[in-house]
Amino acid sequence: MPYFEMTNDIDIKDLGKKTSAYKAAEYIEQGMTVGLGSGSTVFHVIVRVGELVKEGLEIKCVSTSSSTSALAKECGIKLIELSETDSIDLTIDGADEIDPKLCGIKGGGGALLFEKIVALNSKKNIWIADSSKLVDTLGKFPLPVEVIPFGHRRVFRILEDKNLNPVIRKRDGSIYQTDSGNLIMDLNIGTISEPDKLDKDLKLINGVVETGIFCGIADMAIIAEGEAIEVIVRSQQ
Ligand code: A5P
Repeated sequence: MPYFEMTNDIDIKDLGKKTSAYKAAEYIEQGMTVGLGSGSTVFHVIVRVGELVKEGLEIKCVSTSSSTSALAKECGIKLIELSETDSIDLTIDGADEIDPKLCGIKGGGGALLFEKIVALNSKKNIWIADSSKLVDTLGKFPLPVEVIPFGHRRVFRILEDKNLNPVIRKRDGSIYQTDSGNLIMDLNIGTISEPDKLDKDLKLINGVVETGIFCGIADMAIIAEGEAIEVIVRSQQ
């Protein structure tokens, strides 16, 4: 039974996003505290959770961005602050790139900092994505790095000196601002051979708040190509 009717105006990527989102929503149980990620794939989760709430599902959700909060409220989902709970049962989030070991790049939508904090507070993390996000090696997608505006030119110079090709993210001609008031430097690296090491090295630079490298965080990824689902579980080693 398909999760929804296929229509001509849904392309294969959107169908994959929606299929993976609806599958992930099946992991939500009555009474859970659920982390809601951000982005166009999570959009479908929020809509689905809204439907389930209308059907009687009672859950509390923690949001990772202002856009997720706005949509969740519209869908009638009860939101709480992260500080109001000791831990989150399950977080469902998207990703920009996912490798076979479930290391990923996140932050294409700029929500990486809150996404990582929510993920680290979660007992279980499920990533959802259409199959175009699966890669052998991370790095083709520019790696977002969140940087405090104060003194950011020094951070930029250091990243340039390391040949990481930083670009300060802009939106509508102005410097993009995250929900925390920081800016994003997108690193055009090409291939990231040691993501964990790069994450740690970048965070040693004064002014860097967080990076979009998420390793050892997702427990499972639900990847869909159209309506065909592949589930990848991270091996615990
Ligand atoms: C938001 O900052 C990101 O981490 C998203 O989770 C990621 O960019 C995936 O977004 P899409 O589902 O829109 O591709």
